[in-house]
Amino acid sequence: MNRLVSLPLYHQTSRPMLKFLVALTLSTSIVASLSTTAPPSSPATVEVSAPTTGPSKLTGKTPALGWNTWNAYGCSISESLVIAAANQFISLGLKQAGYQYINIDDCWSEKDRDNTTQRIVPDSTKFANGIDSVAAQVHDLGLQIGIYSDAGTNTCAGYPGSLGYESIDAATFNDWGIDYLKYDNCHVPSNWTDSATPPDGDWYNSNSAIRYRRMTGALAAQSRPVQFSLCIWGRANVWGWGARVGHSWRISGDANASWAYITSIININVGILDAVTFYAHNDMDMMEIGNGNLTIEEERTHFAVWAFLKSPILLGTDLSKLSAAQLAIITNAELIAFHQDPLVGAPAKPFNTTPTSPATTPPEYYTGESSKGTHVFIINLSDVADTKVFDFANLPGLGDGTYMLCDMWIGAPVAGGPFTGSFSVSVAAHDTAAFLVTPYNG
Ligand code: GAL
Repeated sequence: MNRLVSLPLYHQTSRPMLKFLVALTLSTSIVASLSTTAPPSSPATVEVSAPTTGPSKLTGKTPALGWNTWNAYGCSISESLVIAAANQFISLGLKQAGYQYINIDDCWSEKDRDNTTQRIVPDSTKFANGIDSVAAQVHDLGLQIGIYSDAGTNTCAGYPGSLGYESIDAATFNDWGIDYLKYDNCHVPSNWTDSATPPDGDWYNSNSAIRYRRMTGALAAQSRPVQFSLCIWGRANVWGWGARVGHSWRISGDANASWAYITSIININVGILDAVTFYAHNDMDMMEIGNGNLTIEEERTHFAVWAFLKSPILLGTDLSKLSAAQLAIITNAELIAFHQDPLVGAPAKPFNTTPTSPATTPPEYYTGESSKGTHVFIINLSDVADTKVFDFANLPGLGDGTYMLCDMWIGAPVAGGPFTGSFSVSVAAHDTAAFLVTPYNG
């Protein structure tokens, strides 16, 4: 796998930036001539005019469902690889299941902007026909296209970032037909970082938030609605202000294909689930199904939890290598329906099976509503199969009584029902069970 180090250098001032700052102190005429394109020198002066425009309400109501180049390919990307994934969305039934976004991550451009227009230039080898051509092909398949940039001077892999170039880049993306922007957090000039809580205590006014707000404002000035994904790694208390700036926000550093990552990110997310609603999604990072050595049960948990906590689900593997079992997981109609529910924006949340049930890290039992009713999701954290039990009386919104359960994995009633008082089920090691619970009316 071709991966770059994930969280590099975000507090460093880049060499070009240093040069710029020196020039700035020497000549006010330079300030005048560069002010439209160069990174702004002082957040304090920008803060006054930092856009307060919110993200588009024409996109991003429910969490994104799509694919992204990074986890599978790193910087080794190309037009043909991106178009292959788009075609696989059709041939593998992913589009039909609800997947929409084909997203290009880091490393898609040349290292230098166009000298005259200051626009970012697509890599002439990887994307010889330009990004607009890729976008047109993706749109012709009835899908949407995403691109990547950075709220700093450079992307994490060292390509041009958008800080100071927000209007130019938003207009360029708009011209190309871009529908989704992932916006990373590398190479942030030192005067744009946050060393402490912002003066008024509101992280919406932090330097970090303002770097992202500048792009929200630039996107809002374009004709196309763009789903805006803040790749801010859980910094600057983003769940407190993310919804005022974008549609989703990363809550941690980068994913890896391990059970330890899955449980750790669930644990982070359960503490901040109140931030999740329509147009507002805690991003647990891109999917690792198909990568590494996750067991099929761990992959089921990976998918189920991202679905029931309403994280964006962006597949991150070579789709042609997925097994039938993996495809069945990622196209599961019941879990996707919960994730994309048009009437309920809240995710499932942990509940206590009994008043004295032991706390686990992360919690194992979750419940949430959908248009269809009340759901229960049970993760088995144990390394061996385990019997899991819950009382209907302890399910918020239900109560003691008799219920039918539908197994969401197979879309069929659980044998042996109806069930009265409590329900018990054996769950394989690291697997997740998923049910719709409906009152039994005889
Ligand atoms: C990281 C980001 C990853 C990927 C990478 C590209 O900061 O979290 O998801 O985009 O940069 O360099």
